[in-house]
Amino acid sequence: MTPLTTLQKQDPDIFATILAEQNRQEYELELIASENYASEAVMEATGSVLMNKYSEGYPGKRYYAGQVNIDVVENFAIARAKEIFGAEYVNVQPLSGSPANLAIYLGLLQPGDTVLGMSLDQGGHLSHGHPLNFSGLLYKIVSYGVDKTTEMIDMDEVERIAIESRPRMIIAGFSAYSRDLDWKRFRDIADKVGAYLMADISHIAGLVAGKVLENPVPYCDVVTTTTHKTLRWPRGAIIMSRENLGPALARAVFPGVQWGPHENLIAAKAIAFREALDPSFAIYAKQVVKNAQTLAANLASQELRVVSGGTDNHLMLLDVFGSFGITGKEAEKALEEVGISTNKNMIPFDPRKPLDPSGIRIGTPAITTRGMGENEMEILGNIIVRTLKSREDQNELEKIKQEVKNLCVKFPLYTK
Ligand SMILES: Cc1ncc(COP(=O)(O)O)c(C=O)c1O
Repeated sequence: MTPLTTLQKQDPDIFATILAEQNRQEYELELIASENYASEAVMEATGSVLMNKYSEGYPGKRYYAGQVNIDVVENFAIARAKEIFGAEYVNVQPLSGSPANLAIYLGLLQPGDTVLGMSLDQGGHLSHGHPLNFSGLLYKIVSYGVDKTTEMIDMDEVERIAIESRPRMIIAGFSAYSRDLDWKRFRDIADKVGAYLMADISHIAGLVAGKVLENPVPYCDVVTTTTHKTLRWPRGAIIMSRENLGPALARAVFPGVQWGPHENLIAAKAIAFREALDPSFAIYAKQVVKNAQTLAANLASQELRVVSGGTDNHLMLLDVFGSFGITGKEAEKALEEVGISTNKNMIPFDPRKPLDPSGIRIGTPAITTRGMGENEMEILGNIIVRTLKSREDQNELEKIKQEVKNLCVKFPLYTK
């Protein structure tokens, strides 16, 4: 890790805080399903001189001069993303996942159009229709959810709702759903009702890039993804689409939603895309899923209910309230005390409220980046259940905290 020597001299307060966070990441376990660790090369590019440049516009068509190197960087990023996902058009400028999704709505729809997306309390994302988000404020949102018994998406039900509501766009994608999506069926339904099909693969893009999950790009009109989850890339997002939608989406990103792109992050994206093209990334992606499935099986064997009975991807929802009578908020706090980060989460048909729901969401992308495998998932499963069951026993929690730290030391992150 590059020593922050200049920062140390210039601003000891911020230096000390960054160092503290570095230690937290090094010696605690990250189970938040949307987090991961970027490589040092990605972080170096993020802090490079590229951040000084304003480069509104696109390669070859910029508003300001001095773009000779910027254009090279952005073209590398576009070419590498196309190689990974096989998309005809790629825009690497979106600053993050929500602005990328905003650009899709702006580029393809009119305010007031109907959009069909996954219900937020059953796994969808804020930008797929929350009443306080631009999506819910400007568009008519209709939702599909999961089946009450299987806790999986029922595609016949999605079709029924689509036929009834005639959406202009259907969104397939989620923040908290552990099952594979049927892209072909989504395409068929979109064709049947004359809707655009948008996939938001923010959560699973790394698994698609690593060829563990099917690539939705051939089935969709447009695909968005953040670059900082299973992808373990820098913070940001990209948009992919068919060639014919490219001009409308380009205008929607710039000038529609944003002005100057962050070229330091675009360079970091380009570096990370190259990392994902390396054969080792496919091995990583496969291990992420293997680890999630091993952990889910371990937890289920200890009577901790995994929503839908398991996982096909990197994440799972745990019904801690139904299993152990602990709320999601209490579980999150107990695990944080022993050095494990998770997030409280609604489970489908949750009788509790969003700020103190019945579940927690956990995922394996970050711990797999550290090099952990199935053996460690068995250890971790036991640690999680012990923590939840002994959350009022300070001595036991102290003991577990040390075990977590020992595990982290065995799988170093940036201190290798
Ligand atoms: C499916 C999905 N889309 C979009 C986003 C938004 O990404 P960002 O936080 O970069 O705006 C997220 C992140 O939580 C997500 O899970």
